[in-house]
Amino acid sequence: MSRELKIKAAQAAFEFVKDGMKLGIGTGSTADEFIRILGKQVGKGLTVTGVPTSERSAALCREVGVPLTTLDETPELDLTVDGADEADRDLTLIKGGGGALLREKIVAAASADMVVIADDSKLVDVLGAFPLPVEVTPFGLGATHRAIEKAAESLGLSGPVELRKGDGKPYLTDGGHFIVDASFGRIPDAKALSSALLEIPGVVQHGLFIGLASTLVLAGEGGITLLRR
Ligand code: A5P
Repeated sequence: MSRELKIKAAQAAFEFVKDGMKLGIGTGSTADEFIRILGKQVGKGLTVTGVPTSERSAALCREVGVPLTTLDETPELDLTVDGADEADRDLTLIKGGGGALLREKIVAAASADMVVIADDSKLVDVLGAFPLPVEVTPFGLGATHRAIEKAAESLGLSGPVELRKGDGKPYLTDGGHFIVDASFGRIPDAKALSSALLEIPGVVQHGLFIGLASTLVLAGEGGITLLRR
């Protein structure tokens, strides 16, 4: 996705922001563009506060001057704007390619509304071509890994389930957990997979966002398309 399309999607999402709002602020390269737009508007007098979904987004917010709060100080938010790795027409999402899925889901769930920004290549008929990130505890990794495979098998899903690594070491989330990426190819029943994964004690959370997004802002060469739920 070109930077230009990311900026267009972020600009369209900014239309949903009203003065005084308490915002959830997403993570990823598209969310970064939204943060930059927000920073400029705050400079011009917009009054908002935001809960960032990652240390990375928090740092960018500080850099561009977006005032921050926490879910402890501000447990209910008006609107979250975040990116996605895949979305279907029901606005079920796969998120977590950037590793922030747990905070992203906590923040989205605390928000009255969630607007997702993406380029139109991320809209799919069936989720799953993008590997599903599953956040797991380091303790018991082998057992959790096997349990994820078995849960998938029970639903007729198969494919590599791989520990995410960076610099040869397991990738560590902001919460101190690991991520395994499950390449099932197709996830025809996101709800069934969600339930099965959440039954596994070592699974902290997964990147299927079901019933959280209310609007999908898709930027494409032909302009902006809005899908609503
Ligand atoms: C972060 O954990 C992800 O959920 C991102 O929101 C997602 O990967 C989209 O990122 P880009 O906007 O960089 O594609």
